[in-house]
Amino acid sequence: VNHLLGIKYLKASDVDLIFETADHFKEVINRPIKKVPSLRDITIANLFFENSTRTKLSFELAEKRLSADVINFSASQSSVKKGETLIDTVNNILSMKVDMVVMRHPNPGAGVFLSNHINASIVNAGDGAHEHPTQALLDSYSIREKLGEVKGKNVVIVGDILHSRVALSNIYALQLQGANVMVCGPKTLLPKYINKLGVKVETNLRKALEWCDVANMLRVQNERMDINYFPSTREYSQQFGVNKALLNSLNKEIVIMHPGPINRGVEITSDVADSDQAIILDQVQNGVAVRMAVIYLLASKIKQ
Ligand code: CP
Repeated sequence: VNHLLGIKYLKASDVDLIFETADHFKEVINRPIKKVPSLRDITIANLFFENSTRTKLSFELAEKRLSADVINFSASQSSVKKGETLIDTVNNILSMKVDMVVMRHPNPGAGVFLSNHINASIVNAGDGAHEHPTQALLDSYSIREKLGEVKGKNVVIVGDILHSRVALSNIYALQLQGANVMVCGPKTLLPKYINKLGVKVETNLRKALEWCDVANMLRVQNERMDINYFPSTREYSQQFGVNKALLNSLNKEIVIMHPGPINRGVEITSDVADSDQAIILDQVQNGVAVRMAVIYLLASKIKQ
């Protein structure tokens, strides 16, 4: 059985194939009839044990555009609340003849754990602070679309690196494609193992922005903190928030990205988030084509 559990399990050629397939699906979803019949014989369960707007809707739309049958499960409205385990929950769903599981879960490694216990393809839609592979793929796809290629580009990931699955998956994905990667944030929000990841580390946002072609701005994930890592939101936004005046003071125009959800006025001001310099909604749009590609390629292996 084949899975997408994390970018760290992919090769550069896998990413190339996903992007070439996504190029095709991007053209498809811009047609008047946005659907293809490719996955009429596949059933997919979207299991969300943690909140989501973009990823949940994007996967559902991608699956429907491929003509798969789709069932949606939200832990907060399920028998998980009565004490049912993850494996029992998934096996009950799989007994209804489901071929593929898309899962978001608060625990790092939940997808890998599940892959050892069930017989279906699993797509990781975010596992705690570990990986969010389809987000990293759509981020790189969006850089490739905007700048022609990812290779050789200087990309800085700014913010709460410690708690971010988007950061880790982006680091793996960008390095796989030959980009130069920097992380920038307060020392308290950088993981202790950061120097082992082969990235540049910067704690001065201006210096990071002067270096980069692309800045991916992350949200501070207060929901994953049991203590206050940084003195105040105001201090964070003053030192690590991007605003139009700061960007205008650079001697070049950089591309601004954000995976969402945005905390306007904290890590990014509205005059940046809503400007032509930001490709935030392009990222969301590309997410559907990239997820169609991932699901299509995994489903082709189920059919073999
Ligand atoms: N980018 C992202 O994962 O957003 P959601 O949490 O809304 O899915």
